[in-house]
Amino acid sequence: MFIPALEQARKITDEYGTPVFVTDARTIRKKADTLLDAFSAFNVKIFYAVKANYNPHIVKIIKESGIYGIDAVSPNEVRLALDLGYQKDRIIFTPSNPTDEEISGIGKLGVLQNLGSLSELRRFGKLFPGESVSIRICPEVGAGETAKVTTGQSESKFGVSMADLDAVEKIRDEYNLRIAGVHSHIGSGFYDPEVFKKSVEAVCSVAEKFPDLDFLDFGGGFGVEYRPEKDEINLKDFAEAIKKPMADFEKKNGKSVEIRIEPGKFLVSQSTVLLAKVTTIKKKNGIKFAGLDSGFYHLIRPAMYDAYHHIVNLSNPDGEKEFTQIVGNVCETCDIFNKGIEIAEPREGDILAILTAGGYGSSMSSNYNLRGTAPEVLINGDKIFLTKKRQAYNQIMDCFTDYK
Ligand SMILES: Cc1ncc(COP(=O)(O)O)c(C=O)c1O
Repeated sequence: MFIPALEQARKITDEYGTPVFVTDARTIRKKADTLLDAFSAFNVKIFYAVKANYNPHIVKIIKESGIYGIDAVSPNEVRLALDLGYQKDRIIFTPSNPTDEEISGIGKLGVLQNLGSLSELRRFGKLFPGESVSIRICPEVGAGETAKVTTGQSESKFGVSMADLDAVEKIRDEYNLRIAGVHSHIGSGFYDPEVFKKSVEAVCSVAEKFPDLDFLDFGGGFGVEYRPEKDEINLKDFAEAIKKPMADFEKKNGKSVEIRIEPGKFLVSQSTVLLAKVTTIKKKNGIKFAGLDSGFYHLIRPAMYDAYHHIVNLSNPDGEKEFTQIVGNVCETCDIFNKGIEIAEPREGDILAILTAGGYGSSMSSNYNLRGTAPEVLINGDKIFLTKKRQAYNQIMDCFTDYK
């Protein structure tokens, strides 16, 4: 995982201030290589789930690394993919609860839609009879970093229920649709190939019903390590999990189909750190707090998911290790980056690096407390440059109608 050297971090914070996201392009390329290598035995196409990080400079690195397409969940994500030069057949649109306007707009662009309810399929059929569509099924098996990002279980809001597959066939026949793909996504951040294999088996069993298929899509969610001392998952175990169900499917159906996967966090999470400055050191009731000039409006994962993010003190690496709570500058108890970590003594003015902040960091940031989103810097070879400016007060307030 990427950790900048102090000298490099200082150079960046001196120029752009703190807090600032810093991304290392080389780490993204390595992750792309790992993915491409692990699944190379299959006819696989990888679609980057751009929700994880939509910084266009980062998406360009991913594109140049040989990742085939984009998995988009909103019309604007589709628009971004088109703006970045992706052909429409390299984009798949997997919305949650889309409006008629969204289904119609994306359909008119000729981008394939991956729909997860009978209502959406029916509405698509009415608008685009005779066209191709993909279905997102609920494989009735879920896994993820936390319950909040586990999506494949039967009681989740996602996908067409296994019990509704006959109804899918009826809708297909009524509107003369072609089911081009069957998809499932069991959750974000899973580590067990066996659970993934169960979802692959579920997709394969559903796919047998649809002989005109082009592809099977097994979703994203491959976990990354947030603790530097832990080993990464071996993606080859996940590729192995696909092998038998796919071989059985192809044997039974006498044809081979394309496989798709759509990782987000695997590609970007470890490439980025959030650099923040210690503003306040405080001891209270035996607890040491290091307060930063950032908060959950820049990185919400710890507050929202209780996610672990490792933090290192770049400024005082040899300081005595102390158990410290690393907290943000929002008046909310959940505004904690790390509930307690052995960290080289943080002092006021030190720069801390919050690691593994590239996935669902900047893309989930907000304007809460009117502090503006953080700037972003990319290290690409010997170039270090700003890819996103710090958001100014006027840029946020411009959305409000006349108030002065
Ligand atoms: C439909 C879909 N595909 C892919 C992903 C990517 O997941 P991850 O970033 O964990 O790989 C998500 C994210 O939750 C998703 O909703």
